[in-house]
Amino acid sequence: MKILVIGSGGREHAICYAFSKSQRVTKIHCANGNAGIASIAELVDIKPDEIGRLADFAQSEAIDLTFVGGETSLALGVVDEFEARGLKIIGASKAAARLEASKAFAKDFMKSYGVPTADYAVAMSRAEAIELLETDRFGDTSMPVVVKADGLAAGKGVVVARDRAEAINAINELESLVGADAASTIVLEECLFGREVSLILFADGESFALMPPTRDHKRIGEGDTGPNTGGMGTFTDDSLLTPEQTEEIIESVIRPTLKGCSDEGFRFRGILFLGLMMTEAGPKVLEYNVRFGDPETQAILIRLETDLVEICEAMLAGRLGETEINWRPGSSACVILAAENYPAKPRTGDVINGLENAATHGDVVIFHAGTMLDDRGMFVTSGGRVLGVTAVGDDLSSALQKAYAAANEINWPGMQFRSDIGK
Ligand code: AMP
Ligand code: GLY
Repeated sequence: MKILVIGSGGREHAICYAFSKSQRVTKIHCANGNAGIASIAELVDIKPDEIGRLADFAQSEAIDLTFVGGETSLALGVVDEFEARGLKIIGASKAAARLEASKAFAKDFMKSYGVPTADYAVAMSRAEAIELLETDRFGDTSMPVVVKADGLAAGKGVVVARDRAEAINAINELESLVGADAASTIVLEECLFGREVSLILFADGESFALMPPTRDHKRIGEGDTGPNTGGMGTFTDDSLLTPEQTEEIIESVIRPTLKGCSDEGFRFRGILFLGLMMTEAGPKVLEYNVRFGDPETQAILIRLETDLVEICEAMLAGRLGETEINWRPGSSACVILAAENYPAKPRTGDVINGLENAATHGDVVIFHAGTMLDDRGMFVTSGGRVLGVTAVGDDLSSALQKAYAAANEINWPGMQFRSDIGK
């Protein structure tokens, strides 16, 4: 069976890794991949936004199954294009991808289908957003307030503002942070308090299967300080959600969401990522993503024991409900090693030392994100987040200990990582 994975980050390395363990997979292609992915897949020089070229490639290479990593291709309708050509693909349709591509759409959707989320208002301009700060709902006594760009913003479109001045500043700055398109509509939200959990599921339009719950560490600095990043580390551990909380999320969030998608005329088939705040009043949705998280995926897929091909086939056939999915018991952790000056303007081109020693550590997989080979064949840094050192363990402390032991073998000038993942 020939597989095509679309994307080039650590998430896509983890997806390729899961496919590489399948007995049924004979060849993996990855468009456009990275130097680490090249050890298990053949790289294809097509970018995730080149939808037509991706479908042409899948047709000419007789790809049996395509798996989409990121939101860019999904929002552009890669799944619709492949399906129109009779090609098998796993991912959300263009209509379903609006749950991630437009926060205003997602909020209105949640309101319509009774999915618990923060109170909000949508402004069609900066002036309108600033006027909303005069109203009771978002006035001085309702601070902090969360300011969000409507469109895709690669994690940069959300500011939690402590007071009116910060909120006005955030509203005025959004456009320069995320671009005019993404910031043309602005969502203001009530600030929620509690513990954050990410819950990702496979969905086939009718039924769904949960993956282990994860927690992301978004800020660059230890103790959750400094600017937001794409994610500096994640872990999976069953203690993140009690069975009662999981049940509550299924009933109050997942079932109404999947039913809402069907009622809107776009059955949700693909990967659904729920960013949740566990508040005193129960779970509330912070955001939907219509794809795997990065670096959540690294910590999740290292624990997957069931053949990913079987799961994809069950999703395509609407048989997910009858499919047993097994996860390695225990926990996992992924520690991101990032380049100097990430997330602002990461320095690239540094030779990465210690990869071979790190690879000898048991229960560890090193997923590449921003790496390339230089002309001497050495791995060098080529992006902000460079590697995701990922380990499994019987419990969280053992997974963390293994991940950090391997991470400590690796270095390059200016390498940064957080030493408090999972703490
Ligand atoms: P989002 O991209 O919408 O998930 O937002 C990114 C991060 O901003 C989340 O992971 C939260 O830490 C924070 N955030 C977003 N919305 C809210 C909210 N309504 N209340 C508190 N924090 C929020
Ligand atoms: N790690 C968060 C995300 O992938 O959106």
